[in-house]
Amino acid sequence: MAFLSDTLARVKPSPTIAVTNKANELKAEGRDVIGLGAGEPDFDTPQNVKDAAKRAIDAGKTKYTAVDGIPELKKAICAKFERENGLSYKPNQISVGTGGKQILYNALMATLNPGDEVIIPAPYWVSYPDMVLLAGGTPVPVVAGIETNFKLTAEALDAAITPKTKWFIFNSPSNPTGAGYTRDELKALTDVLMKHPHVWVMSDDMYEHLVFDDFEFCTPAQVEPGLYDRTLTCNGVSKAYAMTGWRIGYAAGPAALIKAMGTIQSQSTSNPCSISQYAALEGLTGPQDFLEGNKALFQRRRDLVVALLNEAEGIVCPKPEGAFYVYPDISGCIGKTSAKGTVISDDETFANALLEEEGVAVVFGAAFGLSPNFRVSYATSDEVLKEACGRIQRFCKGLV
Ligand SMILES: Cc1ncc(COP(=O)(O)O)c(C=O)c1O
Repeated sequence: MAFLSDTLARVKPSPTIAVTNKANELKAEGRDVIGLGAGEPDFDTPQNVKDAAKRAIDAGKTKYTAVDGIPELKKAICAKFERENGLSYKPNQISVGTGGKQILYNALMATLNPGDEVIIPAPYWVSYPDMVLLAGGTPVPVVAGIETNFKLTAEALDAAITPKTKWFIFNSPSNPTGAGYTRDELKALTDVLMKHPHVWVMSDDMYEHLVFDDFEFCTPAQVEPGLYDRTLTCNGVSKAYAMTGWRIGYAAGPAALIKAMGTIQSQSTSNPCSISQYAALEGLTGPQDFLEGNKALFQRRRDLVVALLNEAEGIVCPKPEGAFYVYPDISGCIGKTSAKGTVISDDETFANALLEEEGVAVVFGAAFGLSPNFRVSYATSDEVLKEACGRIQRFCKGLV
């Protein structure tokens, strides 16, 4: 009898974590390595949030809480959805979990049966397909390539829907491309979904607050109120409030689904950290000017990285609407040989050679389901970004 489960055999460890580990190994050997793999803001959690957490500790808010969130936080999340998205929810329609990741996982665990299909636009955040597999469902990646600015078309969505489709996962702005859907682009998708009443929508709005150039963020239940009863709108404080380590994510949706997600959570992790919940409460209800400052900073970095990568031979880097990633196309590099003799046969060999020869760690596109590309996280300083892009330019110049 095998010791490890068949379920485990269906999934693979996160490739983004593997890249970070490889970069750290090289650093430990004394190599000069720049990591552009991190999926988190490079600055600290706001002081008012940290202070709220300290107050929570001193006030003894250190015990079990309600499984899917304290009432005050649920109320603040309802207010957030009303204020920022024009969506009305009651506290029994809100679930709070240990990060956005757990929220998505709970929803899939609570709803998928073997054979159920989940449509995932590719390139996708690495965890979606594996979470679907862990929950016993079938991921159905649908390509949204560079020719449509990495956005899924209505035709492609329509063609992918079958009687077995249970969920459509929507992520705007996206990890790994940064692509954000305009209201019209999203409406084209929600029009398709209105024709298929058996399909539910899981909207992952994690990068809502990181949008640039007056881009207007919008989310499916807001654009098409007819989808309200079959949409789970997911979000969290990780990226917006630089709180990745605090592990608070949340979702709003139909009460029966929220209750089912709570049941999964009650038999796995129970409540998210009590102290983090009070910190998130302060994040959502305290001053919001932090968000504007972040936006300006990331927009400047995006412009810098897009300009520098487009100067590299063989690379085409679209300018994304949001998040802190770019996803350049490297078709022009494939088939060439690097300065140190590596044949660049695909994006994985490109990323490995770039790391070996120039000490720049990026994540190869195949990990996100669309090649040949790589993902750069620009959540790091201008100086580091300039140095890294300079090395990428030199690496590409050396390709023959
Ligand atoms: C698209 C997307 N959704 C969800 C998450 C998970 O966020 P959290 O850290 O709150 O679990 C991430 C984190 O990288 C992400 O990129």
